[in-house]
Amino acid sequence: MGEAGSQTHVVGTVEELPPGSVRLVEVGRYGVAVYNVGGEYHALNNYCPHMGAPICAGRITGVATGEAPGHKGWSRAGEIVECPWHGWKFGIADGRSLTKPVHRIRKYSVAVRDGKVILEIAGGGKGDTQ
Ligand code: FES
Repeated sequence: MGEAGSQTHVVGTVEELPPGSVRLVEVGRYGVAVYNVGGEYHALNNYCPHMGAPICAGRITGVATGEAPGHKGWSRAGEIVECPWHGWKFGIADGRSLTKPVHRIRKYSVAVRDGKVILEIAGGGKGDTQ
């Protein structure tokens, strides 16, 4: 178990969360969205810092790069989530907004133990999401 006051939640097995997937864990006020990005797990508070949309419902995408007219590139595929309400984009790994970099979604820790994906919410006090 984690540190005193922390909460752990079994998200599912590693087979249930393949790369490119997201699963909502019903914890705290808004829940926590757990993503698998290329085999690495990341957990974000399910609350967009703009106006509170459920970020887990957002499209997983990348970043368009267009250095020259008519030439479209694409980078960070699968590393970005787009808010379902107004389209702000966030890096799944760090929760930081690409649209408004001053904003960031709160992150939580994820571990893998015995083939299970475990969400860890550091406690002390509320142990709650926003
Ligand atoms: S609520 Fe997410 S961009 Fe507006």
